[in-house]
Amino acid sequence: MNIVILAAGQGKRMHSNLPKVLHPLAGKALVSHVIDTARSLSPRKLCIVYGHGGDTVRTTLAAPDLGWALQEPQLGTGHAVMQALPYLDADGTTLVLYGDVPLIQPETLKKLLHAAQAGLAILTVELTDPNGYGRIVRNAAGHVTSIVEQKDASASQLAICEVNTGIMALPTACLGQWLAALSNDNAQHEYYLTDIVGMAVAAGLPVRTAHPAGEWEVLGVNSKVQLAELERIAQRLTAEQLMTQGVRLADPARLDVRGELVCGRDVFIDVNCVFEGKVELDEAVEIGPNCVLKNARIGAGSRLAAFSHIEDAVVGPDAVIGPFARLRPGTELAAGVHIGNFVEIKNSKIAAQSKANHLAYIGDAIIGSRVNVGAGTITCNYDGANKYQTIIEDDVFIGSDTQLVAPVTVGRGATIGAGTTLTRDAPPDTLTVSRPKQISIAGWKRPAKTKK
Ligand code: UD1
Ligand code: CA
Repeated sequence: MNIVILAAGQGKRMHSNLPKVLHPLAGKALVSHVIDTARSLSPRKLCIVYGHGGDTVRTTLAAPDLGWALQEPQLGTGHAVMQALPYLDADGTTLVLYGDVPLIQPETLKKLLHAAQAGLAILTVELTDPNGYGRIVRNAAGHVTSIVEQKDASASQLAICEVNTGIMALPTACLGQWLAALSNDNAQHEYYLTDIVGMAVAAGLPVRTAHPAGEWEVLGVNSKVQLAELERIAQRLTAEQLMTQGVRLADPARLDVRGELVCGRDVFIDVNCVFEGKVELDEAVEIGPNCVLKNARIGAGSRLAAFSHIEDAVVGPDAVIGPFARLRPGTELAAGVHIGNFVEIKNSKIAAQSKANHLAYIGDAIIGSRVNVGAGTITCNYDGANKYQTIIEDDVFIGSDTQLVAPVTVGRGATIGAGTTLTRDAPPDTLTVSRPKQISIAGWKRPAKTKK
């Protein structure tokens, strides 16, 4: 079986410099959804017909299993398939998909391929408003005789509600001669792939139809409005899959997964969370409202409170994060770590049971177990030119408002007094404090406003 994906169209109505098929849906290019679905059917050849935005499309999608056929200029869907012909195996079935119809499901395509075993099969759907689509013309016996485009249709044909979705499965052996016989003598002066249906009928080949599970599967994207509509449909499908697997969603309509979200049992996700890239939530993880997670792993039983932002980070089990926590790339938190509000962590490892509960910046640090990082603590990791590491060993207590001027090490069990600016290593099991002695000046008067 060959698969051809038509993706040469310009997409004028997107009003964008980005080629239409590269616009993202659920975090992935429209055409990448189609490519992934195509791959799931294990075709022998997978060919993309491209044209508008050619180089960008090709370089963005480049993969060893993809063949590329340039269609320049674009003279219609039949002309498009003709460009792919040299890249296809000469026998078997050729399945034609559209690069801008991203939600087509493998099960539907399997039904279509099955219907095509004896000849040609068209994926059709009944629409209450068939405007704009090619109509499926049937004879008195109910057999398909042709497809007629909207612009070429007679008044009675325009009344037909069964339409061509554009997705078809054709016998490859006949394709060459049929495509060569197409003419552009029609309202749009295009070479219509749909004219092949009439040729198959004339050749006595059976023409069958198959139908999608839902209209949404065959919706195309021609505008940003349609792109947004399909985004919600795609998100709804993901939400349903997650709930079916046992994830509890506060509201399936307020979830955005722009990549892959893998969840263990009894995960709960509150409203308005965004998941990007690959995110794994282990058993019984709870994600509060308005959290953003990108390429992250959260260990079993951990809780993320509202408005936490996590990127390229790993959180161990039974951690308590947020609200308003920010874990930046390279953050690795072990079991039972607590990170509170307005704490930013970057490229740092924090071992089990340590806490940084309020207003801190931890960058390029290695922190041991059972450490308490006081409010307002800052690792001064950057001198304006280079970055340096801070090491805090097990059981350390860092007093509030401490600055750790890296490179610096705080020895095991040390205590750092509040307000310290640590510029040299602090020895273990000792109180280190850098602070001028406190003085009180008796009889001191506040300055008074001068009168003019
Ligand atoms: C096509 C069908 C119509 C069907 C409709 C479904 C034909 C003649 N008509 O119409 O029966 O109801 O789709 O949406 O096939 N493309 C190319 N090169 C071209 C022309 C198109 O690659 O020269 C690609 C487009 O990028 C798009 C797809 O083919 O992915 C369909 O093109 P479009 O112009 O939307 O087809 P319609 O005229 O709407
Ligand atoms: Ca179209």
